[in-house]
Amino acid sequence: MKPARLTGMNNLWAVCLLALLLVGCDKGTTPGNSNSGGSGGPSTSTGGAEIKVGEFASLTGKEATFGISSHEGTLLAVEEINAAGGILGKQVKLITEDTQSKPGESATVVNKVIARDGVIAVLGEVASSRSMEAAPICQKNKIPMISPSSTNPKVTESGDYIFRVCFIDPFQGTVMANFASQTLKAKKVAIFTDAKSDYSKGLAKFFKEKYLANGGTITSELDYNGGDKDFKAQLTTIRGGSPDAVFVPGYYTDVALICIQAKQLGLNVPLLGGDGWESEKLTEIGKDAVEGHYFSTHYHPEVGSEISKKFLENYKKRFNGKIPDALAANGYDSMLMLADGIKRAGGTDGTKLRDALAATKDLVLVTGTITINKQRDADKSAVILQIKNGGYKFLESIKP
Ligand code: PHE
Repeated sequence: MKPARLTGMNNLWAVCLLALLLVGCDKGTTPGNSNSGGSGGPSTSTGGAEIKVGEFASLTGKEATFGISSHEGTLLAVEEINAAGGILGKQVKLITEDTQSKPGESATVVNKVIARDGVIAVLGEVASSRSMEAAPICQKNKIPMISPSSTNPKVTESGDYIFRVCFIDPFQGTVMANFASQTLKAKKVAIFTDAKSDYSKGLAKFFKEKYLANGGTITSELDYNGGDKDFKAQLTTIRGGSPDAVFVPGYYTDVALICIQAKQLGLNVPLLGGDGWESEKLTEIGKDAVEGHYFSTHYHPEVGSEISKKFLENYKKRFNGKIPDALAANGYDSMLMLADGIKRAGGTDGTKLRDALAATKDLVLVTGTITINKQRDADKSAVILQIKNGGYKFLESIKP
């Protein structure tokens, strides 16, 4: 899939023209029947005049930057695809719902886009717990779901209609455990986990297994509840164990406060985390308290191939100079993976689309070239970044 370059007015004209053509062609599409076919060829099996894709993302609430970035990436991909003529000649209509960063909302909104809008596939969520809430619903309805950024292995275990475009936490945990033992030469670490998050618990577990296997010692394992404001009691206990580093696999809102309070308590060792740290809010809230710490993630704007450079350029153009983060890149890639699947399936029939997605091979995306494995996950490189001068400095890229 080659994304077209958005060139101001030209692009606008192209979109208007296509919109006019579509209005002319649309002789009443019935929502909800676009996945019922399976017989027709490419020209009929996409159901209506447009391809409806559902998206669920945390556009508001505690993890709002996750949803906003991921949505912007997805939207950019949709706009580029549409400007270049759509998929199998049909325009993509993205129907986005807000999960508000809250438990319970994912199930509600995913049921809604399937039943009310008749979407042919669902993209989302970023947070693993929210993807795990929606996955059984997509599976039951035989609607393929692609998570852009959820890394907990359990997400795709919901069934054969559930995919992801990113790596998983056994890999990410290994990457950070090796970084702690080999690069930082940390002999003993503490682990501080969000007890409410499947992502955090899983990443802590995989990190611990690898770190112990590397010969390291764990000084203490403590937890908090996402949304807490005071972490001082646990951080005091952690400080008592004199660790060389602390692994904090949480999300940015909590992590920023943890870094601030660790600094106040004189816990002056490197703090390490995973992709959940990635947000412009981390440095905005954490300021100098987050300086020098490290985390692993999926993408850095300075690293990558041709498609990655083009993405950076087009994203900046589309979103007022904003630099894309990993969420945006994964969001973009999730739509590209879906478009590639629809093309190879010759339509949007759920079962055919599922089979095509499962057969995704050597697909060139912004965050790397992917082949979907047997567990319906993508094997991809991770990057390690260090927080420097309020920004993220690229340290290394690690292959699976
Ligand atoms: N991997 C995290 C999860 O599964 C989500 C995330 C991905 C957050 C990328 C930030 C960046 O919950």
